Amino acid sequence: MAKITIFDTTLRDGEQSPGFSMNMEEKLQMAFQLEALNVDVIEAGFPASSAGDFKAVNAIAKKVGRPVICGLARMVEGDITAAGNAIKPAKKRRIHVFISTSDIHMKYKLRKTRKEVLAMTRSGIALAKKFTADVEFSCEDATRSDPGFMYEVITEAIRTGATTVNIPDTVGYTVPEEYGRLIDGIFSNVPNIRNAVVSVHCHNDLGLGVANSLTAVMHGARQVECTVNGIGERAGNASLEEVVMAIKTRRDFLGHTTGIHTREIHKTSKLLSSITGIPVQPNKAIVGANAFAHEAGIHQDGVLKRRETYEIMTPQSIGLHQSKMVLGKHSGRHAFGRKMAELGFKLDKDQLDAAFERFKALADKKKEVFDDDLEAVVGDEITIAHRVYELAYFHTTTGNATIPTATVKLKKGGELLMAAATGDGPIDAVYNAIDKITGVKGRLANYQVRAVTGDKDAVGEVIVQVEFDLRRLVGRGVSTQVAARGRAASTDTVEASTMAYLSALNRVLNERGVR
Ligand code: KIV
Ligand code: ZN
Repeated sequence: MAKITIFDTTLRDGEQSPGFSMNMEEKLQMAFQLEALNVDVIEAGFPASSAGDFKAVNAIAKKVGRPVICGLARMVEGDITAAGNAIKPAKKRRIHVFISTSDIHMKYKLRKTRKEVLAMTRSGIALAKKFTADVEFSCEDATRSDPGFMYEVITEAIRTGATTVNIPDTVGYTVPEEYGRLIDGIFSNVPNIRNAVVSVHCHNDLGLGVANSLTAVMHGARQVECTVNGIGERAGNASLEEVVMAIKTRRDFLGHTTGIHTREIHKTSKLLSSITGIPVQPNKAIVGANAFAHEAGIHQDGVLKRRETYEIMTPQSIGLHQSKMVLGKHSGRHAFGRKMAELGFKLDKDQLDAAFERFKALADKKKEVFDDDLEAVVGDEITIAHRVYELAYFHTTTGNATIPTATVKLKKGGELLMAAATGDGPIDAVYNAIDKITGVKGRLANYQVRAVTGDKDAVGEVIVQVEFDLRRLVGRGVSTQVAARGRAASTDTVEASTMAYLSALNRVLNERGVR
């Protein structure tokens, strides 16, 4: 029996996929929760890819103490140096270097010969070793590589100092039996393989990411790379919760364990959805809303007589509980702070103050405040570093025989700015009024609204994707179209829509240093 290392790449492979990008504050929140989940390694980002990613990896390295903090780098000096510098403050640090070994990638993407790839592997790993002893090497597109050449590169990588060797199914192409044979081939043909941990990283293009990862474990892999909710490039990566719960539930067959605190799984999944605004499909294994719901009469009857008739794991084992009525308008700051921590939010004093204000306003409007309400209402409050524009007042008129009109007042520093506008509905009118005040024109690319809990007084959560034209802000001749996500919740959906739009705008302005 072995303890399988869980290498979480939610903040790197997951974060780089469309719709999942996170700012530094959001990445930090997720990293704290991954620490509570007890993952072994957090791949915190790709520091050379942007100044923002460097900062986020660096902040995680400073603040998240227990797991190994890892930064990704191509086999080039600039990337490796950036990764080395970003992870420097971490107690335990790893650099993950990668280079393609498949002919198609080497010829068309890298335009490098096999000899050059071998030489880059040696020099890259030697440089990474100057920053940390813990160096992971990935041969990208391993499953479409010539195995003979790949064995040679892996042997050299380990000889130069790689301590983990990762065999990615980059394009989600392999099938379990074939992947198992590839792992066997590596154990039999790489003479120094016992000096490194074999890792797997499976994409889900054919829906086989988890099956391939588990097969590799059965063939000797001891690290699995995965993401919360299975997010990642294209169809995503192997899902962390599925890999972990399969290893736990089928320990009788697989014979291994992980160090994951499985009761944190549900909270982690929810936090990611709440931060990114992207919900999990209801029938998703382990964390979908229906994963533990028994609908058919025969099933319900069986579960009532004996749970194990239809349930292979308990909802409690992943920390699932009914959304509880939590706090009321008389609840104090202390109880509120404890509740936020319990929900997975790690807040500093200013964030806690702002979140408490939002809670109080909600509790004034809604008799019963549930966990889900709090997550929705407070979630967005903590991830915007600075609010350039704040909603002070709005008023709308609408009807089936009137022109929808809105008056909006926004606070900007000490100033109060006001505009009125019409639209084809109250929300359109509010957005037009905001555009008039800010001088930044927004195009609504996506708009979603949902009731967070039941009943007519439910909190409505609005998620918007807005494309802003920043021409007036940055001057002509500069690339001006910027997309941003915004999310907000309120018992009033027009208010939630207004705040979500402002949240997207503030995000864009923050990134550009506008005050
Ligand atoms: O899918 C992949 O090959 C990767 C590598 C960088 C490990 O993400
Ligand atoms: Zn990947």
